[in-house]
Amino acid sequence: MAETKTGTIIKVAGPVVSAEGMLGSRMYDVVRVGEQNLIGEIVELKGDTANIQVYEDTTSIGPGEPVVDSEAPLSVELGPGLITSIYDGIQRPLDELYKAQGNHILRGSQLPGLNREKKWHFKPVIENGTEVADGDIIGEVQETSILLHKIMIPPGIRGKIEGLKEGDFTVEQQIATVKTKDGQSHEIKMMQKWPVRTGRLVKQRLAPDKVLLTGQRVIDTFFPIAKGGTACVPGPFGTGKTVVQHQLAKWVDADVVVYVGCGERGNEMTDVLTEFPELKDPRSGEPLMKRSVLIANTSDMPVAAREASVYTGITIAEYFRDMGYTVALMADSTSRWAEAMREISTRLEEMPAEEGYPAYLAARIASFYERAGSIECLGKPERQAALSIIGAVSPPGGDLSDSVVQATLHVVKVFWSLMGKLAYQRHFPAIDWLTSYSFYKQYLPACFDDKEKGDQMSGLAQQAMGLLEQESGLAEIVRLVGSEAISPADRMVLQTAKSIREDYLHQNAFHDIDTYTSIDKQFEMLKTILHFHTKGLEAIESGAETEDIFKLDAWEDISRSSFVPEEQMEQIAKIRDKIDEQVKALQR
Ligand SMILES: Nc1ncnc2c1ncn2[C@@H]1O[C@H](COP(=O)(O)OP(=O)(O)OP(=O)(O)O)[C@@H](O)[C@H]1O
Ligand SMILES: [Mg+2]
Repeated sequence: MAETKTGTIIKVAGPVVSAEGMLGSRMYDVVRVGEQNLIGEIVELKGDTANIQVYEDTTSIGPGEPVVDSEAPLSVELGPGLITSIYDGIQRPLDELYKAQGNHILRGSQLPGLNREKKWHFKPVIENGTEVADGDIIGEVQETSILLHKIMIPPGIRGKIEGLKEGDFTVEQQIATVKTKDGQSHEIKMMQKWPVRTGRLVKQRLAPDKVLLTGQRVIDTFFPIAKGGTACVPGPFGTGKTVVQHQLAKWVDADVVVYVGCGERGNEMTDVLTEFPELKDPRSGEPLMKRSVLIANTSDMPVAAREASVYTGITIAEYFRDMGYTVALMADSTSRWAEAMREISTRLEEMPAEEGYPAYLAARIASFYERAGSIECLGKPERQAALSIIGAVSPPGGDLSDSVVQATLHVVKVFWSLMGKLAYQRHFPAIDWLTSYSFYKQYLPACFDDKEKGDQMSGLAQQAMGLLEQESGLAEIVRLVGSEAISPADRMVLQTAKSIREDYLHQNAFHDIDTYTSIDKQFEMLKTILHFHTKGLEAIESGAETEDIFKLDAWEDISRSSFVPEEQMEQIAKIRDKIDEQVKALQR
């Protein structure tokens, strides 16, 4: 990289540094700032003055020091070695950083995102002499026991491939040459770079019409997210946003998970960093890290790097999507990201809009979520893939009229509204069933191998939601005139709705079995609760007392059904037989 343009610092304002003599520099060029070579990015150009957001602590640099333009945009390194990595906001490996300097990140340290020494076994999947272009898969590397890394032709290259061979290579070694029509040759390595602020190219965008299962009952049954879909989780302080994000990172039915811890408290991120590497993938029994990339930017790290962390994460996620995989990205919390934008904007003395956020806040949020999608990947062989984005939002006081929440709700298709009241009652996940929504509901039936079962599930979910809505209306009446005033059938509604809430929607993230429920088990559980409802109403019709119905011990079995192991699911179906017997005995 030719480092030619050099300017001089004239002002340092927190994370923003102004430098003069920068004529010829471009917006978003990465620059080296001051004697310590801090990493920064040009975010504003006025004449020959550049305003630069610096990704590191700027306290000890000052006017007069040099600024060197690298003439390249902020980019990430993509290739084998990404999986299992834990990076900071600008893709520096955190463990290496810590090893190099204890708990203090060395300034300007230029630790590369991908390990330069490690050799990977590369296996070509095409023949020499093949015509190749952007996105074509030319070979594979078994990156971890559960992830096959596909090596693709980088964007902008087209021609005949030569010199392709199997062997052990580092990410920087040449693995092939592409000869273009006009006689040029391009070296192909396993590593490619991509600027973080522009999305990677796709052949075609498709409708996100497949559900991304999460094993979380309230989500899958009532408010599912699609493969390639977008969701947000807003909620007041301490209502379980992070736990929801962690649960998804653990259980989501995706090939690759990218987790961006953005501006959260240091200790929370430590939880992720210590807990995550120990988690096991329930399907393969392998450590979950073998399909994950973590990006950690805690509240005590520089704010500009936090602003960038979301882009670093999404670009890495897009790269794995391009291989034909289902990828899920979680960002916790996008409010901290927006605050980073606000702080930089203030330092740039831009005209503030609502709540002091920059006027471009909504546009930035929209363009971030627009990078999600179900797509047809560029290149051969033809392949489809999906990237889902799930962002937590932490508005002050849980106020949903907050700018970040509003801008997010304009673009996302799923809203999981966490309620302080539910968290206070320790109903977790505290997702409010009355105000949350999902635009992907209609795709739930196709999750089942058995179409009929899928349609049944859709009906069960609708019926259950109907009961919950009825409950909220009835609760008001009961509050005013007492439960005696309502009909036995309505009392049955209240009983069933309570069971739906307590035995179905409530799910303990920290219980070995309850933490994850397959969609088939969800079906059995919900079917059983609603079966009780139908039988109860029949019994009432034929003169049974509601109190006697509510006392039946089959309710006990229902309340324990979430703890029934997946492989003993038939036990849940058997509760229905017990219900039939017990209800029959009540009928006169
Ligand atoms: N599904 C769950 N099962 C059991 N407990 C839960 C669940 N979700 C949340 N909790 C409890 O709520 C606590 C707070 O959750 P969490 O840290 O996720 O909240 P948050 O909304 O991310 O908070 P903050 O606003 O501080 O970021 C957890 O420590 C846990 O005790
Ligand atoms: Mg949190």
